[in-house]
Amino acid sequence: MAIHIAPTLLALVTVGVFFPSTVTSSVLQKLAAVDTCLTTAGVPTYASGSADFTQAIKPFNLRLPFTPVALAVPSTVAHVQAAVSCAASLGITVSAKSGGHSYASHGIGGENGHLIVDMLYFNNITVDKSSSTAMVGTGARLGNVATALYNQGGQAISHGTCPGVGVGGLALHGGYGFSSHTHGLTLDGILEATVVLANSTVVTASATQNPDLFWALRGAGASFGIVTNFKFQTFTAPSPNIVFTYMFSFGSQQQAVSAISAIQTYTRSTMPTELNMRFTINPYSTTLSGVYYGSQAAFTAAIQPLLSTMPAPLYNTVQSMGWLDTLTAYSNGALATTLNYDYHETFFAKSLMPSELSDAAITAFVAYWFNTAKSNTRDWYVMMDLHGGAGSAISKVAADATSYAHRDAIFKFQFYDRVDSGTYPSNGFPFLNGWVGSITSAMPNTTFGMYINYADSSLTADQAHTAYWLDHYPKLTTIKMAYDPKKVFSNPQAILST
Ligand SMILES: Cc1cc2nc3c(=O)[nH]c(=O)nc-3n(C[C@H](O)[C@H](O)[C@H](O)COP(=O)(O)OP(=O)(O)OC[C@H]3O[C@@H](n4cnc5c(N)ncnc54)[C@H](O)[C@@H]3O)c2cc1C
Ligand SMILES: *[C@@H]1O[C@H](CO)[C@@H](O)[C@H](O)[C@H]1NC(C)=O
Ligand SMILES: *[C@@H]1O[C@H](CO)[C@@H](O)[C@H](O)[C@H]1NC(C)=O
Ligand SMILES: *[C@@H]1O[C@H](CO)[C@@H](O)[C@H](O)[C@H]1NC(C)=O
Repeated sequence: MAIHIAPTLLALVTVGVFFPSTVTSSVLQKLAAVDTCLTTAGVPTYASGSADFTQAIKPFNLRLPFTPVALAVPSTVAHVQAAVSCAASLGITVSAKSGGHSYASHGIGGENGHLIVDMLYFNNITVDKSSSTAMVGTGARLGNVATALYNQGGQAISHGTCPGVGVGGLALHGGYGFSSHTHGLTLDGILEATVVLANSTVVTASATQNPDLFWALRGAGASFGIVTNFKFQTFTAPSPNIVFTYMFSFGSQQQAVSAISAIQTYTRSTMPTELNMRFTINPYSTTLSGVYYGSQAAFTAAIQPLLSTMPAPLYNTVQSMGWLDTLTAYSNGALATTLNYDYHETFFAKSLMPSELSDAAITAFVAYWFNTAKSNTRDWYVMMDLHGGAGSAISKVAADATSYAHRDAIFKFQFYDRVDSGTYPSNGFPFLNGWVGSITSAMPNTTFGMYINYADSSLTADQAHTAYWLDHYPKLTTIKMAYDPKKVFSNPQAILST
């Protein structure tokens, strides 16, 4: 055992990663102790410094690498319990990793020194068609979830677009995609979760069992335990569907302001439940794209009130597709992923969940786009999801039904700035901070929500708590106190117990 621990520990100590030198020897003892504890308990691990370990901790966002003290690779719930017990008894913080796609690398702790419980082998997916439910292991990735649900009886759940995202992190903090306006967030489909708590007991959380925990898990799950399995409500995979893209070119800022203003008005009151749509801006194009669940004729009638207020599109595609092709149209690659999935980017990202944008905010957003973003040569984009409004299944759920705090957000903005090779420049951060700031400073008396699934590494803990959970945060701290007072499950932006 000492043979595989020592090199990593020495490396960590040598580069001064996280121990002040005065505590080095006690930390070394602690690290040796956690390895001994995991081994004694029969928990499978990847040895620190091994090729498997190095690969498993490689985050989606290469800008934010962190080094855990140990990495458990459980294949049973008992393994997860034993791993949590080892860490808790030694005062080591635990983070679950499902798909490893957290923008702030929270799946590997978001800082050095955590025990990571990698859920990759919790990838079973079993549909019970008679009850329209499915048991889904949290380590399963979305493309495999969608494929398995479809193959086992034509079922589906609402989820995000990228096939490599883990259903664990996605569902515990939101889960938005091109069926969410119609069917809600991924977390809205959770009927039950099997959870290993900080004291290493395993419980079921549902509307009737541990309902306070169930509430907290659906929006802030990372802070409350390790979920091993979900039971989801499924729906019949819709088919055929209308998959569409309209590309625009705005000749002036005023034209862009009018278009975004029209999109907001349409989202608030006109957009039917069956329509799912996103407005995307990047250096190359400006598009409205999405999916409509219904006939071509019904789609044409549904989109017409919006198109009639916009400039004529440069180009459009409107196609009819079956369910898996509908997903593939937005998946950026094949749905199926393998256990050694290995895709990464280097980026800084932010989000904003406004309940409305004032005219001044839209004007400021567009001015920043034309005057600043158009001269940024990095590979940036902004996606404005049409999240809420009268027709949205997300907004129809009561604001306090789950800890997800953004039911009334009209848009879900994602701001993303990446480099295609090399490191993200240290002078890059003001670009997106300034773009978000263009909106927030135009509406100075508004508290803006942000989306933890687009975790923004530049937020302090206090800023994160307010932006991610808004007025749900105090209740979350109370539940944290009941289930995890010692903060066994944590990361730099997690819920605090006091
Ligand atoms: C390429 C890409 C595309 C994306 N597309 C979408 C999209 O379309 N829609 C959308 O809503 N979001 C999208 N996201 C954001 C995504 O939802 C979040 O990054 C999500 O948290 C990732 O989950 P994960 O399991 O892959 O990540 P991880 O990094 O493994 O986990 C994320 C967080 O959840 C916690 N966690 C993970 N598993 C468990 C568990 N079993 N029990 C308790 N806590 C757990 C982790 O500790 C961490 O805090 C996308 C992200 C990327 C990188
Ligand atoms: C997945 O299913 C297989 C076959 O039923 C079973 O042996 C295995 O224990 C399951 N894995 C988990 C993590 O539940
Ligand atoms: C913000 O609130 C302050 C104090 O209540 C008020 O004076 C100001 O007019 C408000 N600003 C806006 C833009 O609403
Ligand atoms: C574990 O924690 C839960 C939640 O706080 C509590 O209900 C349960 O009694 C605890 N179990 C043990 C064995 O301490």
